[in-house]
Amino acid sequence: LPVRLTVVGSVNLDLVARVERLPRPGETLTGAEFETVPGGKGANQAVAAARLGAEVAFVGAVGDDDLGRDALALVAESGVDVTGVRTVDARTGVALILVADDGENQIVVAPGANGLLRPEDVDVGGADAVLAQLEIPLEVVEAAAVQAPWFALNAAPAREVPPHVLGQADLVIVNTHEREALGEHPGLTAITLGAAGAVLMEDGWQVARATPPPVEAVDGTAAGDAFAACLVVSLLEGRSREDALARACAAGALAASRFGAQPSLPTAAEVDAAVMV
Ligand code: RIB
Repeated sequence: LPVRLTVVGSVNLDLVARVERLPRPGETLTGAEFETVPGGKGANQAVAAARLGAEVAFVGAVGDDDLGRDALALVAESGVDVTGVRTVDARTGVALILVADDGENQIVVAPGANGLLRPEDVDVGGADAVLAQLEIPLEVVEAAAVQAPWFALNAAPAREVPPHVLGQADLVIVNTHEREALGEHPGLTAITLGAAGAVLMEDGWQVARATPPPVEAVDGTAAGDAFAACLVVSLLEGRSREDALARACAAGALAASRFGAQPSLPTAAEVDAAVMV
């Protein structure tokens, strides 16, 4: 039976300009190519988990606008249950993204509708686990944590989280910047280290380490989302911590080797073919 996961989080339409290099402050660059791509950390992780074989429900909020319809297109297409998505009186969230030729990016998020998600909107149903991120109000993250039989928090983007919310997490997933903003979490913590891979810590001890397969960096957008979803799904499937971390690193690397947020997220077969053993 597939694992059942509820993802509580943001949904954005990513407005992406592909540029040769990132601009300096005050500088205008021209010659960019523009695309809109479905994104948002919550929606990305929901789509990623579905492509990895989980049965996924998504709780989020969009505005009653074209942005929202475009933003949700791939969520519904990948078989995610979207009955928990509420339409609110605000514009759908957007992320303004610059992607340079070397794969580096800059992102500014205007949360819009994501900021109007409320604790009452959270219903985790019969899920085995819940995965949330920090692009929605903290009260909503807290409601998700309280209802979850097993709770994973991808503490991104970097933001402080009250200890009583952090303390509810069975797994915390962070990069090094996010870890600094968060402080210590004694429980199971995955720390991503970019091209160097990731480590899994428990009670201050390293319990697993993995390196990603070598890939050409095209666009780092959603690499962290692919990693988080793959780690959670792999652990829920009962895989060992080493295997789960290695698969998560492979998923992150594959997403970084392709353009865009949701279009870049790999399937389980792609992850298994790329994983470093
Ligand atoms: O994690 C990547 C995501 O962060 C993008 O899709 C963008 O929408 C921002 O929320």
